[in-house]
Amino acid sequence: MDVSALLSQLGVDSSSFEAGPLPVHTPIDGSVLGHVTPHSARDVQAAVTLAAQAFRALREMPAPKRGELIRVFGAELRANKALLAELVSVESGKIRQEALGEVQEMIDICDFAVGLSRQLYGLTIASERPQHRMQEQWHPLGPVCVISAFNFPVAVWAWNFTLAIVCGDPVIWKPSEKTPLCALACQALWERAAARANVGAIAPRAMSQVVIGGRDVGELLVNDPRVALVSATGSTAMGRALAPNVAARFGRVLLELGGNNAMLVTPSADLKLALRAILFSAVGTAGQRCTSLRRLFLHESIHDSVIEQLTRAYGDLKIGSPLLPDTLVGPLIDRASFDRMQASLEAAQKDGGKLIIGGQRVLSDQYPQAYYVQPAIVSMAQQADIVCQETFAPILWAMSYSSLDEAIELHNAVEQGLSSCIFTNDIREAEQFLSAHGSDCGIANVNIGPSGAEIGGAFGGEKATGGGRESGSDSWKNYMRRATNTINYGNELPLAQGIRFAD
Ligand code: UN1
Repeated sequence: MDVSALLSQLGVDSSSFEAGPLPVHTPIDGSVLGHVTPHSARDVQAAVTLAAQAFRALREMPAPKRGELIRVFGAELRANKALLAELVSVESGKIRQEALGEVQEMIDICDFAVGLSRQLYGLTIASERPQHRMQEQWHPLGPVCVISAFNFPVAVWAWNFTLAIVCGDPVIWKPSEKTPLCALACQALWERAAARANVGAIAPRAMSQVVIGGRDVGELLVNDPRVALVSATGSTAMGRALAPNVAARFGRVLLELGGNNAMLVTPSADLKLALRAILFSAVGTAGQRCTSLRRLFLHESIHDSVIEQLTRAYGDLKIGSPLLPDTLVGPLIDRASFDRMQASLEAAQKDGGKLIIGGQRVLSDQYPQAYYVQPAIVSMAQQADIVCQETFAPILWAMSYSSLDEAIELHNAVEQGLSSCIFTNDIREAEQFLSAHGSDCGIANVNIGPSGAEIGGAFGGEKATGGGRESGSDSWKNYMRRATNTINYGNELPLAQGIRFAD
């Protein structure tokens, strides 16, 4: 597939994708899209040095001016939404509708960040001492490193980048090795926009940088003490390897790791809604969202009828090139992903699971170098070990339950804690699920699937999901440091806690 025209329309210089040693493939047919150049250790050092210099200037720029940069960037994204979405589809394999949604998510977070640039509020606190006042100030933190995954090749960076810039922090982005072209395109759009914004003299290239490479490049960034915050999206194993290193140097992390998201469908649920939600969240993005639905707990009274209707819907799914208008399920990212899916299906069957539908490779004649699969539903009598692991592929583990307490117990009995939902029309069941003894996830929904969150809420999860929160609400606080100030405007020096000392 030839994406050079698309990339040049997006402003990417052809030298950055034509000559390098690293091939970039499209999952659509496995062909090569371009060749990029990985960054050396010396390049990474230089990138951090540049970001550290830019920080000294960016922290002095008034926050609303930083917001203006993001406002103009948002306008650039609006103008280029279709082009960028096309590149997202080609490089990550997600269908057009979802790729457009991903770019819209970038635009939405730009709008949010612009408003935020005038709302980086600190508290004023009552002092116990006369003629004293306490306050909190939020100051820029320092250079931020963003490590992102292939499945959201642009939006997750944008959540971090837009907030970081508004908060006064330059960003160095290490995208997935599988989707570097999307990163180069975002960088080009940013540079074009920031140059036009005409606020201050900081080079756009210093406020935002892309470094390309694998784990070694990521490690150099993660271990550099000048990087104040490492915001990483990926597997739990990746987070486990990275977090202790950042902690050892007292750096900050913001982790968005594995999910093992579930839905409970109770007897009172609106099954029509539930079925649509299951379909979107289990097979959307070919099951490759961190929020994808993986575990389905059906009340025993409705279990058989839901499975029957779902199996029919799975049978009708249009699988194929994500660029075709009717396609609902595009390809898996690569062969390794397909192999992992097969291994999980085999393990499940050994554990007594019954494959109801799917799992097999399709369209292999048409696309011998690509991996399209029929999404699978597996009926599990128990929540076996394989169900407790995240397989980043369209496998839905279906289980039946008899009491809600038992279902919530099972729901929480996995190490991950990202997203969850209940379908019910019973207010008691809904509130129990949302309560302190309900879902233990960072995201808990009622009558909405676990995926497809809006940007306005804090996004992230507990336990092995890493505990980070990105995007909306007060996630911006991750990108700033808090200073508590006590100001004495009197003529005395009273000590706190009533201590008397040499007076
Ligand atoms: C991810 O898969 O890493 O809630 C992010 C969602 C999207 C973001 C997913 N808004 O599914």
